[in-house]
Amino acid sequence: MTLDKLIIEFDKGLRTLLAPAQSARPLPGRDLNEPELAAADKKHAAGLMRVNHVGEVCAQALYQGQALTARDPAARTALEEAAREETEHLAWCESRIHALGGRKSLLNPVWYVGSLALGMAAGALGDKWSLGFLAETERQVEAHLGGHLETLPEDDAKSRAVVEQMQADEARHAETAVTYGAQELPAPVKVAMKFASKVMTKTAYWV
Ligand SMILES: [Fe+2]
Ligand SMILES: [Fe+2]
Repeated sequence: MTLDKLIIEFDKGLRTLLAPAQSARPLPGRDLNEPELAAADKKHAAGLMRVNHVGEVCAQALYQGQALTARDPAARTALEEAAREETEHLAWCESRIHALGGRKSLLNPVWYVGSLALGMAAGALGDKWSLGFLAETERQVEAHLGGHLETLPEDDAKSRAVVEQMQADEARHAETAVTYGAQELPAPVKVAMKFASKVMTKTAYWV
């Protein structure tokens, strides 16, 4: 890895953690009215959107790890496209957290560094395992977002619109990884990933 590349990636990391994310696509549900939620519902929705924001911080780091290690140029281009959409997800989650009066996770730097290390470790195993890890992550996130749609306040149509669009995007990202040769991960690895994400989501709901 060249020093140039390392500096660019370091810069991306700082931007993920410190700068507001930008979105080319409009915010899903932007034309809907901000709902009048009971205080407890608002707090719950903000907690869920904080969890989703953490997920997107991790996605930034995972895709960054991929970009550092992917060998196939076509795969790299497709991954960069997916990574751009992850940045939009980051922006959308930020916007909902703000509107709901919540705050972002204080542990974002920890989530970021951990995910970057995981992404690079997966990358070191070669493209097919690295893509396999990505595909499984996207599938688990898609399922997790489905769970949020069941618990998000019914009246918070704005958050629901964001989560629904993210869910559709993550499903597509999983397909992209498969298209470029993702290897199906062994079942115990999938279980370990589910456990790790449970710890992360439970923590991020509060901190
Ligand atoms: Fe995402
Ligand atoms: Fe994704």
